[in-house]
Amino acid sequence: MRILVLGSGAREHAIIVALLRENAGHELVSAPGNAGIAASAQVGGTVETVGLDASNGKLVAEYAADNGIELVVIGPEAPLVAGVADVLRAKGIPVFGPGKAAAALEGSKAFAKRIMDAANVPTGRAHRGSTVAEVESALDALGAPHVVKADGLAAGKGVLVTDDRAAALAHAEFYLQQGDVLVEEFLDGQEVSLFFLSDGHDVVPLSPAQDYKRAGDGDTGPNTGGMGAYSPLPWLNDRWGSEASFVDEILDTVALPTVRTLEAEGTPFIGLLYCGLIVTQHGVRVIEFNARFGDPETQVVLPRLLTPLSSLLLAAATGTLGRMPYPSFSSDVAVVVVLASEGYPESPITGRAITGLDAASEVTGVTVLHAATAHGSDGGFVATGGRVLGVVAQGAGFPAARKAAYEALGRIHLDGSQYRTDIAERVAR
Ligand code: AMP
Ligand code: GLY
Repeated sequence: MRILVLGSGAREHAIIVALLRENAGHELVSAPGNAGIAASAQVGGTVETVGLDASNGKLVAEYAADNGIELVVIGPEAPLVAGVADVLRAKGIPVFGPGKAAAALEGSKAFAKRIMDAANVPTGRAHRGSTVAEVESALDALGAPHVVKADGLAAGKGVLVTDDRAAALAHAEFYLQQGDVLVEEFLDGQEVSLFFLSDGHDVVPLSPAQDYKRAGDGDTGPNTGGMGAYSPLPWLNDRWGSEASFVDEILDTVALPTVRTLEAEGTPFIGLLYCGLIVTQHGVRVIEFNARFGDPETQVVLPRLLTPLSSLLLAAATGTLGRMPYPSFSSDVAVVVVLASEGYPESPITGRAITGLDAASEVTGVTVLHAATAHGSDGGFVATGGRVLGVVAQGAGFPAARKAAYEALGRIHLDGSQYRTDIAERVAR
């Protein structure tokens, strides 16, 4: 199949590697992609990168029509929120990714809350404020720890969780300049990222993962886009007996009601519904929805997927997911550790050389995915953003997979770079 994948991060690299792994001779086009994607092993299919503005629906649709693209997969949130899927669908091009209206599930926390209320989805209490006074009374009503969120997209940085009321208020004042803010009830428990594919009506689950959102070890430091992840989550068995029974519960209480509510409102959700969950003592609560594959979680979920990814994405795009069996997963585990530039997330330093990538890839079970790289003047790789690489290790158990990921990281050099040393530690004991 000729498939166009929009986006340029490690999530898109993971999608491309999963499509190549099918060995189905797919012709893949990555727009704009990155240097690592361009260099993906040409086994099982071909990969070409094109310098196309992924958020310009008209250009993307023209490119797809002129180049015989049979499926467009939209990776990041920006093109979704910009309505790129709508333009493609209007032209009859199969596209995996919701239109602008349904993507507001991620783009507007207020819209997400309204849909959750309508669908009776379990979530924390929240108050919305448009003035400092409203925020202050919400902080006092809900008490500490305080959770303050920007309403719109903020690349994972719009959320502050703190015991410090003054800091919560300062965060709110900053984001009030851009729109409303939400003050939420603090939810205590393990976080789970669970992805569902939807064709607008039918929904199928993938395997859960856990993301590490804070920059530093022990969940310290600022929130980031995500510094590492692992899948599956063995501790779910303690309470649910099996992953399947947890997944079924979330399918029935969260994903299906949400998708059916959006369908009934005339804004069907076609694409990936990312459920960000917290497992509290009182039950599972949704803390956020995203309208796309999560990053870095995708880097550990897709390597475990046994069902051909292209068949699932195409079925979702063409409204035939109901005819598909549930995706199946390897019992192998996967761990990803993100290598980030110095200064990430506040002000990453870019342009520095990356070395040791070949040696890292030689560690058994390791795949190095590129999040933000380009070719330097000497032909080597340079970092072009905050999150630079995802070092993924797959193996029979967490101790071995962790060891492999960190062994590979030790072989990579990028001046000033940082990574967490405790990814998947809690499941590797
Ligand atoms: P979000 O962008 O909504 O995913 O929030 C980023 C991170 O902030 C989440 O992954 C959680 O770690 C934390 N967080 C968000 N909302 C809450 C909440 N209501 N209670 C506790 N932690 C939260
Ligand atoms: N890893 C969190 C996200 O993709 O939003």
